[in-house]
Amino acid sequence: MIAICDDGHEINYDDEGQGIPVLFIHGFPLDHTLWSQQLDGLASRARCITPDLRGFGGSGRKGPFSMDQYADDLVCLLDHLGIQRAVVTGLSMGGYVALALWRRHPERVRALVLADTRATSDDEGALEKRREMLRAAHETGPKVVGERMQEGMVGRSTRDRSPEVVIEVRRIMDRAPMEGIVGAIEAMMARPDSTPDLPGIDVPTLIIVGEEDVITPVADARAMHAAIAGSRLEVIEGAGHASNMERPAAFNHLLGEFLAQLELA
Ligand code: MLT
Repeated sequence: MIAICDDGHEINYDDEGQGIPVLFIHGFPLDHTLWSQQLDGLASRARCITPDLRGFGGSGRKGPFSMDQYADDLVCLLDHLGIQRAVVTGLSMGGYVALALWRRHPERVRALVLADTRATSDDEGALEKRREMLRAAHETGPKVVGERMQEGMVGRSTRDRSPEVVIEVRRIMDRAPMEGIVGAIEAMMARPDSTPDLPGIDVPTLIIVGEEDVITPVADARAMHAAIAGSRLEVIEGAGHASNMERPAAFNHLLGEFLAQLELA
């Protein structure tokens, strides 16, 4: 389905199920299909909304690109769907967007799920890697990003035991368009440090991380957990960065339990 925002930007999204609205925000360089197993597992108990961020999947590819713009685009989608507040669930870059959405539009956030992500901005080492990735993408095309990220995206156990997950993650990365890749890398480089916002988060927050995540390791999740009062931290064993795809049943169980608690509150 397509929502059209005031600036003409088109957002492609799926909207399945009924119940408490959950907005799922994908990571980089992925698209809404990252969440297909969450739709399968949770649409029987929640309204699962899975958009493509600007530049990815079937959404419009024109900028501007920033975490704030992605967040505003998602609020346009919530308006379009007539949803006042959603459980905002972001994985990795999707978590950076979730934190921007909280900063800019806290009244739209019923609860937060921060999966395999971090609050801090890029340090000089990370910025240099991104500049190198941009150079490589411009020189050899967008698929070089998937090629370089493949190993880090999926944990060691999954690579050993479930190669089909590695293939699926790579398939999603390989179809990411150049505009989305360049826009998102520049947006991640420019993103502010969200650490100062963490103590102000006063909605229920679930933090999930794959034990074998090497892109946003457990230490990053622990740091967010320490800074967000009352948050819950769950480490999924045998999963890496794409924890929701690597161990979907475990991920869905944690999210399902969290949603049940919200419904009781
Ligand atoms: C992601 O999975 O969204 C990215 O790896 C995040 C990042 O590069 O910081």
